Amino acid sequence: LCSRLLLGIETSCDDTGAAVLDETGAILGESLHSQKEVHLRTGGIIPNVAQHLHRENIERVVHEALERSGVEPSQLSAVATTVKPGLALSLGVGLGFSQWFVRQHKKPFIPIHHMEAHALTVRMFHPVAFPFLVLLISGGHSLLAVARGVDDFLLLGHSLDEAPGETLDKVARRLSLIKHPQCSTLSGGQAIELLAKDGDRMKVSFTTPMGQIYDCCFSFAGLRNEVTRTIMKKEAEEGIEQGTLLSCVNDIAAATQHTVAAHLAKRTHRAILFCQANGLLPLSSPTLVLSGGVASNTYIQKALTIITETTGLRLLCPPAKFCTDNGVMIAWNGIERLREGIGILPPNVGVFYEPK
Ligand code: KG4
Ligand code: ZN
Repeated sequence: LCSRLLLGIETSCDDTGAAVLDETGAILGESLHSQKEVHLRTGGIIPNVAQHLHRENIERVVHEALERSGVEPSQLSAVATTVKPGLALSLGVGLGFSQWFVRQHKKPFIPIHHMEAHALTVRMFHPVAFPFLVLLISGGHSLLAVARGVDDFLLLGHSLDEAPGETLDKVARRLSLIKHPQCSTLSGGQAIELLAKDGDRMKVSFTTPMGQIYDCCFSFAGLRNEVTRTIMKKEAEEGIEQGTLLSCVNDIAAATQHTVAAHLAKRTHRAILFCQANGLLPLSSPTLVLSGGVASNTYIQKALTIITETTGLRLLCPPAKFCTDNGVMIAWNGIERLREGIGILPPNVGVFYEPK
C-alpha cells in the first residue's frame, strides 16, 4: 500500500459515523449508526440521550469501518475527527474516543470543522477547483460561503436564528405529521416534501423572510411563527384539538416549502451577484455547491437551478447519501488537509472540544 490511509470519525449531532479512505478518496470501509428513530420518537434531539447513544456505538462503528476496509490501525496515516461545531456532549464522545485511539496507535490527529467537511465533500466526486460558492442547508446549519481553499472560507451569510431543516422539522411536529400513515418514518423535511406534492401553495400565503434586508443572511423563525399562527387559526375555525388538522395540511406543507425555497434562492442569487461583481468566482465554470440534508429536497433544488441557470453557474450536489452527516466526509477532509499539510497534530497533543 503506497497511498496514505485515513480514518474519519463524526459524532457532532445524531449520527455516529466512521470511514477509512485512501488518498484518492476511494472508500475502503465505512459504518454509520443513525439515532434518527429515537429522536423522532422524542420529538427532537435530547443532548444527553444523543451522547449516550454515541457512547454505546462509537467503538463498534469505528471497528466496523476498519474491519470492512481490511486496514489495521497501524497502517493509518492519521485520524481525522469533527471537533466543532455541534452539540458539545456529542462532539465530546468522538473527540474522547479519537484522542484515546491516536495515543494508543501513535497516529497524527487532524481536528475537523464540520462545515468545512460538508463544503469539501463535493470534491470527492467532481473535480471542482477553488474558489467556488457553497450553500449548506441542514437541520443544524444554513450558510453561504466562498470556498477559497481547503481551510479558507469567506462567509457571506448564515442564519440569524434557526436552520431551515429545523424549521421544517418543527412545522412537521406542530402538524403531528409523524401520525400520518405515509410519514411515520420520515424526517420533518421529507414529510413536508411528500405532502407538498398534493398541496396547492397558492391556497396559503406566507411572507418570504427578510425582504427588506439586503444581505445574504437567512432567517426562518419568523416564517415558522407565521405557519404556526395559520395552523392555530385553522384549528380554531374547525374547532379541533392541536395537532389534529387534516383538511389543508398539504397546502400548508406546499406553501412552507415554497417560502423556504424562495428565501434560499433569493439570498443565493444575491450572493452570486456579489461574487460576480467582486471577481470572487472564476470566469470559467463558476460553481455553486449545494449540500446538507435539506439539499435533497427536489423543490429546493429546482428553485436553485433557476438561479444558477440565469446567472451562468453550474450547480453541483454530492450524492444524497453524502449530503448528510457521515464519517466519509470527515475522512475526506482529513485527506485534503494531509495533502496540503494543514492542521496535523502529533498524537499526544490534547484537543478540547469547542462547541462553536
Ligand atoms: O444534514 P442532516 O442529515 O443533519 C444535520 O442537520 O446536520 O440534515 C437533516 C435535516 C433535517 O432537518 C431534515 O428534516 C432535513 O434535513 N431534510 C429535508 C429533506 N430530507 C431531510 N428537508 C427538506 N426536504 C427533504 N427531502
Ligand atoms: Zn452536518
